[in-house]
Parts: sequence; C-alpha cells; structure tokens
Amino acid sequence: MATRRKRYERLAIHAGGIGALLLMVLWCRFQGDTGVYDDSLGVLGKPFYRMYYLLHFLTDFASQRLLGTKTLTEAMRMAVCIGIAASLWAIGCLLYFSGRRLSARLWGNRAADPEDHASSEIRPVSRRAFFTEAASGTGAMMACGAAYPVALAPEAARITRYTLEIPQWPEALDGLRAVQLTDTHYGPMLSLGYLQRVVQQTNALQPDIVFLTGDYVHNHRRHIRDGIQVFSKLESRFGTLAVLGNHDHWIGLRETKANFEELGVPLIDNSRRFLSPDGLSDTISRDAVCIAGVDDLWTGEIDFEAALSGVPESMPRILLSHNPDVAELNNPYRVDAMFSGHTHGGQVCIPGIGALAYSTDFGDKYLAGVCPGPWTTAIVSRGIGVVSLPVRFNCPAEIVEVTFRRAVSEAPLSA
Ligand SMILES: [Fe+2]
Repeated sequence: MATRRKRYERLAIHAGGIGALLLMVLWCRFQGDTGVYDDSLGVLGKPFYRMYYLLHFLTDFASQRLLGTKTLTEAMRMAVCIGIAASLWAIGCLLYFSGRRLSARLWGNRAADPEDHASSEIRPVSRRAFFTEAASGTGAMMACGAAYPVALAPEAARITRYTLEIPQWPEALDGLRAVQLTDTHYGPMLSLGYLQRVVQQTNALQPDIVFLTGDYVHNHRRHIRDGIQVFSKLESRFGTLAVLGNHDHWIGLRETKANFEELGVPLIDNSRRFLSPDGLSDTISRDAVCIAGVDDLWTGEIDFEAALSGVPESMPRILLSHNPDVAELNNPYRVDAMFSGHTHGGQVCIPGIGALAYSTDFGDKYLAGVCPGPWTTAIVSRGIGVVSLPVRFNCPAEIVEVTFRRAVSEAPLSA
C-alpha cells in the first residue's frame, strides 16, 4: 500500500514538474508567435526562451525530416511542445543526479547522505528528497541556460575596423568613415532592446555615413515596422543608405519600402547616390564618390547598368550588395569596394571544422572579412542577427567601420 502511494506521489511530482515546464514552453511559444522576444522576458525568461527556440527548431527540423511534412499541424506542434517540456524535465533531473553523484565521489560524503549511498542500487526516494532534487535539477538547468547568453548569445556585437585606400579618393573626403549594419533579422530570436543598443553603439562611432545592407526582419511582416524604424535613431554626418536582402523580399517588400520611405532612408537597389562634402545627392558633382547599390541576388534582379553606368571614369565607386556572391557575376563596370552581409560569417563556426552552414555558393571565399573577388574587394560583415538557430558560436555579431583614404599610388582608374 505504502509502495503504491509512493508510486502515485512520484507520478504526481513528475506530472507536476512536466506540466509546469509545459506551461512555460507554451508561454514561450505564445511569445514567439507574437514576435515578443524582448527585454520584458527577464533574466531567466530570455535564456529559457532561447533554449525553447533552439529545441523547438531541432525537433521541428527532425520531425519534418522523419515525417516528410513541410508544415506541422497544430497537434504535431503541441506534441513537440510536450516533448520539449518532458526533455527539459529529464535534463533537469539528470543534471542534478549526476551532480550529486559526482560530488559524492569527489568529496566522499556518500555515507552522510543515506539517500544517495549506492550509486548502482535503485532505491526508493522520499517525496521530499525527490521533489527537492528535481526542482534543484531544473534550477541547475536554468542556471546553465543563464550562462548561455554569455557563452553563445548573439547579443554582443563587436566592432571591426578596416582602412581602405582607394586611388583618386577625393581629398575633401579623405578619412571618411562609413559604418555598416547588416542582417539585423529582428523577430522572434532578437530583441528590439538589443537592436537599440546596436544603434547606440553605431552612434558612438560618430560615423560620416551608415550603410544598411539588408535582411532587417526575420520571419514575419508584423516585425517590419519596429525592425526598420529602429534605425530612425541613427546619427551620422551624411545620413544612411540601404539595400534590400532576401528576407525583405520574402517577408514583405511593400511594407519594407514604405517604412524606409517614412524613415527618409533611400533604398538604392539598382540605383546610386553621389557623396560629396556637401552631402548626398542624385546628381554628379566635383569631389564626389559614387555609392551604388544592387538588389538581392536570390530574390531580386541585379542591374549593374542602372547602378553604375554614366559614372565618371575617375570617380571612386562603392557598391552595396546584400549577397556577396554578386562579386562573381559578370560586371563590366569598375567597383572599388563592395559592402555585403548575408552569410552571417557562418554563424556557428566549429574550430577545426568551420562553418556549419553556408549561404554562399563559394565556400569560405565570401564568408566574412575582406574578400578579394574577380572585379572588386568585398567587405563581408558577419551581421547582427541570427537565422535558423538562435545561436552564434565562434562567430560574434559585427558592426563594420571602414575608413576611406586616398591611395598613395595614384594609379589611374578605369571604367
Ligand atoms: Fe541574413
């Protein structure tokens, strides 16, 4: 009788624990569905939410592969949520019991703890001891989750500085500093608070001009407004220029364009502006450089002619292109440097193995950094946000700052 009661009690503890975690998983799912991954989630909520998203992504991916379905039904999604809650509970219990056994082995306090003195023996555990242990296990799991933002989180943008020497760069613009932000991917895996801090970091650099190179939202059009209007706080001497990325085409081209128009930031896809000490202009002027842009390679149309034809031969040209693979296309026009994103630098880069996923057709060639191509040098930023997995590893988010200098050797430029 007593054994049966203990069994029921144990079952009740397990059911209660899994139920509590299931509620949290469903709450996170609700948060994800409404696009709220934000500072309001709190210190514990944020890592939990990330863990949830990571597990959800992995289970979603696995079930799609196993079941061969592209879209999961609501019932299947619910099953995934229950599976996640049960896994979290099991991980919690496992962590705690392993920790206890390890500490007993290390410090030899097994005898002092009658509950835990025979590791190979299966013994009945009192309700209180089990509840304490399982709850502590969940706490340990949450602590590991809290360590996640420090170890793996995407929320730590680093500043990378380059100096580019370009022949016939106007003396009046010598030392011009451009800051590039790309692939912010605002949405369920990145908080608005973080993006606001990235904007503050950018402003602290006191840039002359800011380049935005695409993928401003991640997966839903309801994020477009906040994901773009966050740039309204950008401050620079000459303003901001932008091009579109594949996600902007996929999620909502019309809304994205409307928001940039409201922001007063020109989208220069298959177009250009001329930058002189007097500012940005549609027309060519003395001491100006051309800043051109092309549309996204995957989802738009690349029109080099619209972007670069008619630019004076001696005028330096900078190109903005979301996708760096554009550098491999056939382009008859000279380009002195190209700013790109899209690859996220690989996002998860395992030492000795490399990036887990590539969104470029050219391996490591345009993954990140200064990448020489057939007709230009691409500066490829790892970007700010994340895609697919809410994780960056060995590949921190990046704000790029480039200082333009007039090259010492004045080799004549050609078209
Ligand atoms: Fe991206």
